[in-house]
Amino acid sequence: MSIKVIKGRHYMLPAILYDLLMNWVWADSADLERGRLLYENHCLICHDSQVHIRNNQKVHTLGGVSREVIRWSEELKLTWRASEINDVTQYLYRTFY
Ligand code: HEC
Repeated sequence: MSIKVIKGRHYMLPAILYDLLMNWVWADSADLERGRLLYENHCLICHDSQVHIRNNQKVHTLGGVSREVIRWSEELKLTWRASEINDVTQYLYRTFY
């Protein structure tokens, strides 16, 4: 039993470290208002924000949200800069995750 718990923690560690690191690197510089506007302009065409709070969310970490934002911005050919991806990621993560 206790071994299982330890294994589980080990598995989670990289994701948690990544999140801590990204929070530290990004959080200060993010412009959440710009993130919200970008998201509302480009992303709400398809899904309302329900997609981020449904029970079977695909992503749970800041890194996961970031990957989705990159995936969708590429899909939509938005050519967002890193700072814009960061703003939208931080906005979504803080608002819904
Ligand atoms: C063409 C329609 C469409 C557009 C436009 C779109 N999305 Fe999505 N999005 C979806 C669908 C459908 C899903 C759920 C299925 C999937 O993940 O493929 C989804 C899922 C997501 C998720 C994962 C939600 C979760 O927690 O499971 C994120 C994050 C996301 N979208 C972000 C964005 C962002 C940011 C934009 C704008 C750059 C965007 N989407 C634009 C259709 C769209």
